[in-house]
Amino acid sequence: MSVNKEIKRVTTNTLQEMKQRGERISMLTAYDYSMATIVDAAGTDIILVGDSASNVMAGHETTLPITLDQMIYHASSVVRAAKRALVIVDLPFGSYQGNSKEALNSAIRIMKEAGAHGVKIEGGVEIAESVTRILTAGIPVMGHLGLTPQSIYKFGTYTVRAKEEQEAQKLREDALKLQELGCFGIVLEKIPAQLAKEVAESVSIPIIGIGAGKYCDGQVLVIHDMLGLNKGFKPRFLRQYADLYTVMSDAIKNYIDDVKSRDFPNEKEQY
Ligand code: KIV
Repeated sequence: MSVNKEIKRVTTNTLQEMKQRGERISMLTAYDYSMATIVDAAGTDIILVGDSASNVMAGHETTLPITLDQMIYHASSVVRAAKRALVIVDLPFGSYQGNSKEALNSAIRIMKEAGAHGVKIEGGVEIAESVTRILTAGIPVMGHLGLTPQSIYKFGTYTVRAKEEQEAQKLREDALKLQELGCFGIVLEKIPAQLAKEVAESVSIPIIGIGAGKYCDGQVLVIHDMLGLNKGFKPRFLRQYADLYTVMSDAIKNYIDDVKSRDFPNEKEQY
């Protein structure tokens, strides 16, 4: 991690202290240098290079197609931009499941080739061996429970998870297990707010929610969704802070009109 004299880097310890103080943690995704520069300068605590890049950057229907090489490309661009935020990178589908040695190799590639500060991995007890092995290399690991998009073909839908007691109980146990293994935090996606509250109160590591209600220690959103770039995507949990689709579309239409009408470039805009 590079040392910058003026800007103090957020670390996993910082996050732990924030939870202890009851200070909420802000996390947003970014996938490229320009966006990450804005997200970081605005003061976001964690930048997640999410495998949602598969959806919002590459246009795939699911997160499954994105590769480790592609994640490393996105992550290295984000790391170059992030001066303060902790940069966490998703281990993509197929880079860790069922093989802890491969999980470690994938995590090492992300740390070494992208310069990331930690990895995020979906699942509970099933991936305990992989989590442990990655941690032995000194790589910070964040868990991800609830709606885990890499398992979409098992779930069949993107609806709220753990509404039934059996699934809720497994999630409670998984959260405790991830803490016990040494994860520095856990993302809880699309689960009932009361369950997220219970989990946040039962562990000492930060719980970051997306569609998991107000009692989590922090919140994460996909940057394209909260900026309104993802036209038409308006799930209940999403608060849209801007309508950049309309802003950008209007700007592009104005540019096209100016070119067609020969207004652009004018005398001052040429050499
Ligand atoms: O890939 C992603 O963006 C994520 C968030 C939804 C938490 O995992």
